[in-house]
Amino acid sequence: MSVPSVTLPSGDEMPMIGVGTWDIDGETVQNSVRAGLDGVYTHVDTAEGYRNESEIGEVLADYDREEFFLTSKVLPGNLDYDSVIEACEDSLDRLGTDYLDLYLIHWPNPAISLRETLNAMETLHDDGKVRNVGVSNFSAYQLSNALHIADVPIAVNQIEFHPWFQRPELVEYCRENDVAVEAAAPLARTDVLGDDTVEDIAENYDKTPAQVVLRWAVEESVVVIPKSSSPDHIESNGQLFDWELDEDDHQRLNGIDRDQPVYDHPAKDWTGDVYGIAE
Ligand SMILES: NC(=O)c1ccc[n+]([C@@H]2O[C@H](COP(=O)([O-])OP(=O)(O)OC[C@H]3O[C@@H](n4cnc5c(N)ncnc54)[C@H](OP(=O)(O)O)[C@@H]3O)[C@@H](O)[C@H]2O)c1
Repeated sequence: MSVPSVTLPSGDEMPMIGVGTWDIDGETVQNSVRAGLDGVYTHVDTAEGYRNESEIGEVLADYDREEFFLTSKVLPGNLDYDSVIEACEDSLDRLGTDYLDLYLIHWPNPAISLRETLNAMETLHDDGKVRNVGVSNFSAYQLSNALHIADVPIAVNQIEFHPWFQRPELVEYCRENDVAVEAAAPLARTDVLGDDTVEDIAENYDKTPAQVVLRWAVEESVVVIPKSSSPDHIESNGQLFDWELDEDDHQRLNGIDRDQPVYDHPAKDWTGDVYGIAE
């Protein structure tokens, strides 16, 4: 079974499912990445902030580099020009590769010039170290600034997205501007798996609640990167592409939005502490 992809502005294909790796390290992350790449996944998501790039790099060395799509992210404390370049080169070293398919600004940082950050991203792109540039956890307003400033396309906005936090206005803004939406925490860190509607649909289709939630996102043209420490969960989470939700059931899931994040609480107003700004 092959996994569909979204075409980025560069023409590169980004597979619709990737292996999430936040908060797992050591053998756990290595087993997860291996389980994914030995199965249907050809896409891995990490970040300098996850502190697991070296361990992931050891696994990636066993696979053909052109066969997988690799994302990393630069921390919000490293967004001045020189630090972006250095952070990327350090990530490349740890991951054992000479390019990233996608490099993301992990979180916006209002204390550092976005123009400076994007100039560094453009340098990395021109040098071939980064094939596609993107952002993460950007509001529509922050994304509009990036789109105005950047000389390279902003290919992706990786944002919290799941049936309890659907963010229709932000997703629509991304779509209008040819920015692919990638779902961080697509399972709402398991919170949404016990939702009555999700459970009911899962039972009717003889699927797991996780498969229902992930399939719904894929049908919304959103790339998903579920994380699991269980090779069995990784395998079953990837079984999304030989079945579909009926339109009615898809609409039922559209109807369970609670505007309820599991991690991106500042998304609501950006008046509180900004993650990483003081690092
Ligand atoms: N850009 C950002 O700021 C940002 C923020 C958050 C996340 N992310 C990215 O998105 C990835 C996913 O997000 P996340 O790790 O926060 O949460 P998530 O993928 O929504 O949820 C992970 C949780 O779901 C469980 N799980 C996975 N598959 C399951 C299944 N089939 N049945 C039951 N439980 C299952 C996992 O437990 P088990 O280990 O027991 O399977 C784990 O506790 C991250 O790893 C990271 O790569 C990015």
